[in-house]
Amino acid sequence: MNIGILASGGDGAGMNYCLYNLYKKLYKKHKIFLFNRGFYGLINNDILNYNFKYLKKHKNDGGIIIKTSRCKEFEMKKYQDIAVENIVKNKIDLIIVMGGNGSFNGAKELIVRSVKVMFIPCTIDNDVNDSEYCIGFDTACYNCANFIKHVNTTMQSFNRTCIYEAMGRECPAIAITVGNMVDADYLYVGNSCSVENCIDVLRIAKQKKDAPIVILRENLVDIKYLRQEIEKKLNIDVRTCIVGYVQRGGKPTKLEKLNAKKFAETCTKNINQKNYNNSIVVKNNKFVAKKIIF
Ligand code: F6P
Repeated sequence: MNIGILASGGDGAGMNYCLYNLYKKLYKKHKIFLFNRGFYGLINNDILNYNFKYLKKHKNDGGIIIKTSRCKEFEMKKYQDIAVENIVKNKIDLIIVMGGNGSFNGAKELIVRSVKVMFIPCTIDNDVNDSEYCIGFDTACYNCANFIKHVNTTMQSFNRTCIYEAMGRECPAIAITVGNMVDADYLYVGNSCSVENCIDVLRIAKQKKDAPIVILRENLVDIKYLRQEIEKKLNIDVRTCIVGYVQRGGKPTKLEKLNAKKFAETCTKNINQKNYNNSIVVKNNKFVAKKIIF
């Protein structure tokens, strides 16, 4: 078979390890086409000539060596058709899409056009439907928790409260997991949370702790406004930190690599069994193939 692989959307540590394991399992039996920059690569017929040795060299690196992108064009029928023309031109039988929710929709557009697809959930947000785990999440939590622990030593010295903004788009998974890891005092993670509630909790926390920790999920409330309100109402010293891309970057954790390998193995096993058009998901702690339905 001719098999294309692409990465799309936000990257996550462990994607290179997954890619390496996919390639390792497939390249002796199949011809592999690595597309540059996700769906842009499909549209522009941009194929990388990386070999197994190169993928092996970079298997433990963060990021994704075949590059990713947020390809707005691929939401348009015109470009979806161009991509499929290229797939046909290259006689590619199947495309493996590594990405998050947006990429999943892109994968569906390929299936609609009779391209066989396998999807591997990769996003630090850990919010791909039906999967308990997405590649990148464990490393993102580990990085975020370490960042907070590090910064909070200096907050301790000054008896400062600190608000840490975690990534996750609309999903509270990182903020909640990291909250447990660092023993946070308030998790501002959803619409049931409020500035007033946060202040009430901190009023009590401040009596027991020198440097209480607030974790705020991004896209909920302005971090500067939250700081001002806490300082005003409680008359305490507050600082803010946007944790940012330190969460998405860096080398994968051991668990990340283990999971990335299992995703790759489950994907290749199903390809070899001719079981196509699946998303590889974690369900009840097991790696399984789930039919992509519309
Ligand atoms: O989807 C992963 C993610 O890191 C989100 O948590 C974040 O909101 C977004 O990507 C940032 O995307 P970009 O790097 O494209 O601005």
